[in-house]
Amino acid sequence: MTHEEEAGVPSAPRLDLTGSIALVTGASRGFGRGIAEALCAAGASVVGVARDREALRRVGDHLGEAFTAVAADVTDPTAAGQLLDQYRPRTLVLNAGANPLNRPLQHHTWQTFSRNWEVDVAQAFHWIRETLLHPLDPGSVVIAISSGAAVMGSPTSGGYAGANATVRFIASYAAEESRLAGLGVRYVSVLPKLSPTGVGAGGVAAYAARYANGDVAAFLDTLGPTLTAEQVGQAAVDLATNPTMNELAYMLSPAGLAPASGPAPR
Ligand SMILES: NC(=O)c1ccc[n+]([C@@H]2O[C@H](COP(=O)([O-])OP(=O)(O)OC[C@H]3O[C@@H](n4cnc5c(N)ncnc54)[C@H](OP(=O)(O)O)[C@@H]3O)[C@@H](O)[C@H]2O)c1
Repeated sequence: MTHEEEAGVPSAPRLDLTGSIALVTGASRGFGRGIAEALCAAGASVVGVARDREALRRVGDHLGEAFTAVAADVTDPTAAGQLLDQYRPRTLVLNAGANPLNRPLQHHTWQTFSRNWEVDVAQAFHWIRETLLHPLDPGSVVIAISSGAAVMGSPTSGGYAGANATVRFIASYAAEESRLAGLGVRYVSVLPKLSPTGVGAGGVAAYAARYANGDVAAFLDTLGPTLTAEQVGQAAVDLATNPTMNELAYMLSPAGLAPASGPAPR
């Protein structure tokens, strides 16, 4: 049984990604690397974007010719336009995200509080806007990686939760523009639950300090199983290949994708 069938999603003929282009931001490590690996395994040629050339080179060494490394800053609107014009991906995964400063609210400055607005929201705005101005081919999908914090809040990471709620909103607004203009492009956001790696590592440490006397292992026990990069990659493949996955947003846990509750602006 597929992940979608387990989640009650109707099964449909799968789209074949063989020979298609996927562009994944934040592909140099963490969830983004898992997404790049899974899309390559599904037959796509993956363009991986991040700032650190060396880290991208290591991903390329592992994935071979199916992976093209592009060093760029996702907050640069010119890079967004140029890369979308150059590669015209059928699958676009906006996964890059900033690591927030994990401090209680009163220990933030406006600059630290707004960090994820300057990266995560700026990325969603620039890249998704480009896909509406110069639409991707019908049948394409844009997957915006938001966060479970967009629903649950995240009291120790400043503006992270609100920024990710805005990423979700931007993707849903684009879905509506796509529908109204008959573009045939799906826009979906994914809200992964907290994991102790990458962006989540600082959050786990901060919650452990706050709620478990600094005992990270004890805090992790309260979460139960946590997401792996492989599971996030599988979720991206499921969304890219199953055109009936039309919800505006999905929660992502180790059990797979499930429609997210919350605002559905239409
Ligand atoms: N880990 C979690 O618990 C969790 C939970 C929910 C949601 N998420 C979301 O999932 C996404 C990935 O998280 P992760 O934990 O895998 O993070 P990670 O391991 O820290 O990886 C972040 C990736 O984004 C890239 N990146 C960051 N800023 C960039 C910029 N300005 N331009 C280009 N690339 C940039 C990084 O590469 P460079 O630094 O080389 O640029 C790296 O490839 C994020 O959007 C995060 O908010 C994570």
